[in-house]
Amino acid sequence: MKIASSILISAAALVLAACGQSGGGAVEDDSPAGQAYSYRHAVMELVAAKNGILGGMARGDIPDDQALFTKAASDLVALSGMVTEGFQTEGIPAMSRSVPEIWSNMSDFEQKAQDFTAAAQAVAAAAQRGDFAGAKELAGEVGPTCGGCHRPYRAAAE
Ligand code: HEC
Repeated sequence: MKIASSILISAAALVLAACGQSGGGAVEDDSPAGQAYSYRHAVMELVAAKNGILGGMARGDIPDDQALFTKAASDLVALSGMVTEGFQTEGIPAMSRSVPEIWSNMSDFEQKAQDFTAAAQAVAAAAQRGDFAGAKELAGEVGPTCGGCHRPYRAAAE
């Protein structure tokens, strides 16, 4: 019995740790800034998931699947158009890694989002015309546009 309950406690601790790692999304904050954070957090998580499919397939870590790749690329284009909506309400809740410069340099921030959209569009266009090899090559140009925005506008993780 003693062993069983300590396994249960370890499992609960793991679940808690996993929630903490998701960036605090489980913490409810109904303020407008909190809701904006929840929105952009969700968008970024989906962006990372879709980009992970493109990059994973381009690197050969995920088996080739042209249909899955093509869908991920067009999903990424759609998501890229939702990024700036998550920053319409100014505010940096405790769990947020946004920096105030986002709101003082909004046109530059929007440009960084457009750079990301353009890179994703290039991948999607190649995939849609059936150029899978070319699309995988272009997938390597998406990541730098993430970093191009994260470097100036996302604080380093603690
Ligand atoms: C236009 C700017 C911009 C672009 C482009 C961008 N990001 Fe982000 N991203 C941010 C900002 C700002 C944050 C921090 C948001 C916050 O915590 O308030 C962030 C947060 C994240 C997070 C952490 C999510 C969380 O809340 O824990 C992930 C993962 C992420 N981005 C992945 C990506 C990937 C992958 C790409 C490219 C495919 C990308 N981002 C493109 C600005 C951007």
